[in-house]
This record gives sequence, C-alpha cells and structure tokens, in this order.
Amino acid sequence: MTSLRLAVTALCFSTLLACGDGTMTPVDAGPSGNVSAGMTLYAARSCNGCHGNVGEGNATGPNITGSTTAGIGAWTQAEFTKAVKQAIGRDNMAFCATMTPYPTLTDQQLADLFAFLKAQKNDTVQRGQACP
Ligand code: HEC
Repeated sequence: MTSLRLAVTALCFSTLLACGDGTMTPVDAGPSGNVSAGMTLYAARSCNGCHGNVGEGNATGPNITGSTTAGIGAWTQAEFTKAVKQAIGRDNMAFCATMTPYPTLTDQQLADLFAFLKAQKNDTVQRGQACP
C-alpha cells in the first residue's frame, strides 16, 4: 500500500496536470478540516493526555498548536497526516514509541484534527519528556 502511494505520488510529480482532477492525490492536498469536529476528536482519541488540552504540550508530549515557532504551524497537512497515521516525523524519522501511530483515522478526521490544532496558538516551547 505504501509503495502504491509512493508510486502515485511519483506519478503526480512527473505528470502534474493529471493531479488536479481528484483521481490522484497531490502531496499536499487533502480534505478541508472542521475545527469543532477536530476538537471533539482530539479529546475522544486522548491526544490531550500527552499534548495538553489544546495542543500546548505537557511533560509527556510536545506543543502541536498552530504556533510556527513552537508548534506545527509550518507543517503541511500531508506532513501532519503522516505523523499521526504512521508516527513518522517531518524529518522522516520514526517517532519514539510513546507516540503510537493512528492508522484507523481517516483523511477527513486527520484534516479535522489539523484544522483544530492550527487554530490554536501557543508560542511556549514544550518538547515533552517522553522521548530520550
Ligand atoms: C501516549 C502519549 C501520546 C498520545 C496519546 C499522543 N501523542 Fe502525539 N506525541 C507524543 C510524543 C512523546 C511525541 C514526540 C515523539 C518524538 O519526537 O519522537 C508526539 C509527537 C506528535 C506529533 C509531532 C510533533 C513534532 O513536533 O514533531 C504530532 C503532530 C502528534 N504527536 C499528534 C498527536 C495527535 C493528533 C494525537 C491524538 C490522535 C496524539 N499525538 C496522541 C505523545 C503522544
């Protein structure tokens, strides 16, 4: 499945025009998110336990608010999706085991979570301490 997606991505890069019709997904595309649905999911999936009530971070997990300096404000939706679905960071390194992957979240749910987090702004650097 991953190699299929990679192949599709590569195809999109090589034939950019073919990617705009919805049959192929360009790297950065995705559904648009709903902030209040994201807020509900954020608590329902217990993200808050490790990332604070609005993503500000805590002793366990890092700040994942929309802050561009302390959070994930500069991330693309594709990067966020990969991080949460596969537990792979922006630098393509696997996260430590504390941040487990959430493979059952749909792209729509991930878009909702991303929209909610992007709407939060907290510039306090909090990296969490769960990883060595
Ligand atoms: C059991 C604790 C825990 C839970 C629950 C958890 N996370 Fe995490 N999360 C972490 C830790 C720890 C890291 C840092 C991982 C690393 O750097 O290796 C992290 C990293 C991240 C990152 C990358 C942040 C960065 O700056 O690199 C994102 C995005 C993220 N989590 C989103 C979520 C979302 C969304 C949820 C809920 C669906 C969630 N996390 C649930 C502990 C958790």
